[in-house]
Amino acid sequence: MPAETFVSRLNEQIAHEFAAHQQYVACAVYYDAETLPQLARFFYRQAMEERDHAMMMVQYLIDADADVTIPGVAAPQASFSDVVAPVALALEQEKRVSDQINELTRIAREAGDFTSEQFTQWFIKEQVEEVATMSDLLRVVERSKDDPMDIENFMAREHSGGAGEDPTAPHPAGAE
Ligand SMILES: [Fe+2]
Ligand SMILES: [Fe+2]
Repeated sequence: MPAETFVSRLNEQIAHEFAAHQQYVACAVYYDAETLPQLARFFYRQAMEERDHAMMMVQYLIDADADVTIPGVAAPQASFSDVVAPVALALEQEKRVSDQINELTRIAREAGDFTSEQFTQWFIKEQVEEVATMSDLLRVVERSKDDPMDIENFMAREHSGGAGEDPTAPHPAGAE
């Protein structure tokens, strides 16, 4: 059984991941309404990744025969002052999640729960990538905020495909 402190903290993290999902859907919808389809597509895809993160955590708790509670989430921010604001918010969110994941790792380690500690390792790597992606994107949108078609061209060039299969990723509950 995973450490109780870890289980309760991981249940909280599931709520954070679902909240991130909702927030990224709200960002995608904003860009869709602004007719910036490449930015919209990027955020719809990021939203799906956040849902997968939540479901990976759900699967881990199910496999470990630990309590899992599917949470409600607070409403995301849905209106934005300009095209930069959703990306700035996303970067802040990813930095916060990185801290949360590090804290999860620390809790597992201090409890001597090495299985749970290992489970968190993939998320540490994932957060490094997500913070890097969002901080690159923030630089691009800040530079081109008066000419959003430049941003769209950048997205089409750099972020057109999906992330691809990651064979090291934990299995999301319910996934094929
Ligand atoms: Fe996430
Ligand atoms: Fe993320």
